[in-house]
Amino acid sequence: MKAASLPRASVTPADLTITPRDRRFGRDEATPRWWHGNDPVASALYNALSATFPLGEAFFVESVRKFRGGADPRLAGEIAAFTTQEVIPSREHLAFNRRAADSGYDLTKLEERVTARLALLDAKPPIASLAATMALEHFTAILAHELLDDPRHLAGADPATADLWRWHASEEIEHKGVAYDTWLHATKSWPRGKRWKVKAKVMLLVTRNFVVDRTAGALDLLRQDGIVGARAWAKLLWYQWVRPGMFRKIAGAWAKYFAPRFHPWDEDDRHLIGDAVAADTTFRKVRRAV
Ligand SMILES: [Fe+2]
Ligand SMILES: [Fe+2]
Repeated sequence: MKAASLPRASVTPADLTITPRDRRFGRDEATPRWWHGNDPVASALYNALSATFPLGEAFFVESVRKFRGGADPRLAGEIAAFTTQEVIPSREHLAFNRRAADSGYDLTKLEERVTARLALLDAKPPIASLAATMALEHFTAILAHELLDDPRHLAGADPATADLWRWHASEEIEHKGVAYDTWLHATKSWPRGKRWKVKAKVMLLVTRNFVVDRTAGALDLLRQDGIVGARAWAKLLWYQWVRPGMFRKIAGAWAKYFAPRFHPWDEDDRHLIGDAVAADTTFRKVRRAV
């Protein structure tokens, strides 16, 4: 094999531990309809994200596990821990989505949109699903980083729900390299050019669908609050792109994905996990993947 086509080695930190923390959030009381600072726009955007998690994370797990054959023991262990770290948050977001439904929102259209997007991948080879998972895991990791790094994103939120988001964000950072390392393993015989082309093309598609679908989902929820038309668009776009501007703030980290030698652990941001969960001793550590 020529040097130019040698696979990029993983740079996942040698001392990384992926620790699924089995916790439950907000089960004892109703979650306010506008749980995020009594703001329908902020609540709509986070609710639109949460609506995707149960279906999306099941898809991530399935996509990664298809390629675990032949993985070295370390990667095999990380895939098992990743599986658990996706399954438990899915359970909690499902419970959260039920509370959103209890408060009067209908999430059906949002869930149908996710199902339709995922169905398109059924007709493609499994490596396409792994590439989509890798791209979406980059998205969740950079969203998680920004969420934990700037407390303004969850300022004013219902405390139990804010805890749910911070906990999930911490685990997304912790396992951010797993889908990527599985991709490196699955495509180790590919030329570097082909690898980059597929990775970049899928990221562009995923980005378009992510922004369009989450925006459509949030607009659907705002419509249920009687906020429609130009007013809904203006408020939502302001929230997404200006203040607090989550989408704008992750743009630089998003672009790094296209660097030929990118790896999610080029930036070690584990200090954010420590801040979010270190003080919490109530969780039950899960030893084995479910
Ligand atoms: Fe997750
Ligand atoms: Fe994840």
